Amino acid sequence: RSDELPWYQGPTLLTALSQFSPAPDSADAPLRMRIQDVYRRETQRTFVGRIDSGRLMVGENVAISPARVTARVSSIERWPQEDRPFAQAGEAVGFTLDQPVFVERGDLVSDATDLPPSARSFRALFFWLAEEPPRDEESLVLKFGPTEARVHLDAVHGITDTRNLQKLAAGESPQYSVVDVTLRSDALLALDTREANALTSRCVLLRDDEVLAAGIVTEVHSGPRASNLHPHRHLVSATERAERHGHAGAVVWMTGLSSSGKSTLALALERRLFARGNLVYVLDGDNIRSGLNSDLGFALEDRTENIRRVGEVAALFADAGAIVITAFISPFAADRATARRAAPTAFHEVYVKASLDACEARDPNGLYRRARAGEIAEFTGISSPYEPPNAPELVIDTEHNTPEACVERLLDYVVRVTAAQNLQKV
Ligand code: ADX
Repeated sequence: RSDELPWYQGPTLLTALSQFSPAPDSADAPLRMRIQDVYRRETQRTFVGRIDSGRLMVGENVAISPARVTARVSSIERWPQEDRPFAQAGEAVGFTLDQPVFVERGDLVSDATDLPPSARSFRALFFWLAEEPPRDEESLVLKFGPTEARVHLDAVHGITDTRNLQKLAAGESPQYSVVDVTLRSDALLALDTREANALTSRCVLLRDDEVLAAGIVTEVHSGPRASNLHPHRHLVSATERAERHGHAGAVVWMTGLSSSGKSTLALALERRLFARGNLVYVLDGDNIRSGLNSDLGFALEDRTENIRRVGEVAALFADAGAIVITAFISPFAADRATARRAAPTAFHEVYVKASLDACEARDPNGLYRRARAGEIAEFTGISSPYEPPNAPELVIDTEHNTPEACVERLLDYVVRVTAAQNLQKV
């Protein structure tokens, strides 16, 4: 410590160093092993690879992802042979299974009760090495360990200059910056997020054999848990449904702060569309949370799951030919993007706009007052963020317009976009 640094109140360097604890042993983490090769000897199959984390034990049930099949480990093979019924992180070994399951190079082995998510879409942070920026929708190769997959660039969420942590200016080369992207793969991939397993979340992005960037997976947009699914095509077309109903199906997705007027507008719009003879239905946050989503609260991951489920349900309604109006705060842009992906052509984002002050002044159920008093945790606008949409299809300003005027605007918009003649013949 020194008089020259009167503003520094923290620990000294030596104290800080002595406070470090050793990194946790990766053998204690959940089992992860990527298959590098399969050795075939007559009917025998030996799966080889290096254990990234955890322990592999004879007699234990393991799962092979992304297929998510399970089997029991019959033997562990090493050279020279050792009489040890387990192997752990850092060891390169082979093993055999008690059942003839199909395993190939790149598959991820885990404990049968602790599987990595299998997904087609995920978000990752890349340290960008190339001069050229990522291009929308371009097709690239993703490598993690021995696994290779063709992926498409779905969205670039932001590029951060590592020298000053500022967003990169448009037109600047992203070289040596951190690029935040969503990637989509044609095949199902078994991936861990950085939080779940730092080692198996690492990956490299290539364009025509040139290494573009090295990164870590931050978010996995989980696909179906089940495998061997063969979705069926309906024998009733969207056009036939639209002809019967006199309009196309649509998802009218209202987002906005609590008390911004979403539910009031949704119910009034439903009344008006119903009077026109339309097939219309409102899905409302407070209602759905009492039934379908009664297992969810307001933590970040619960809100994400709330919106994911509602997005899927709304997409089914729209597919059935209905106009579905949803009234959910849906505070996070990424969650709304997930809902849009469920019904890409039928989705209309409506920002029900009112300032926090205006919403707080309305406060019909006294929730803002209770949130201010600390009685409701993670209340949107007070103790949990709201991300307004960047490019909504429609903005309805309920602070400066009467409810009647807002409903008229909504009605005009919905009638126009669901007009049956807009539907292409299928
Ligand atoms: S969302 O954030 O997951 O989209 P949703 O629209 O389903 O929220 O539910 C919001 C409704 O739940 C509000 O209208 C309000 O009545 C109630 N609510 C209870 N607790 C909270 C909270 N912590 N934050 C926001 N709304 C809450």
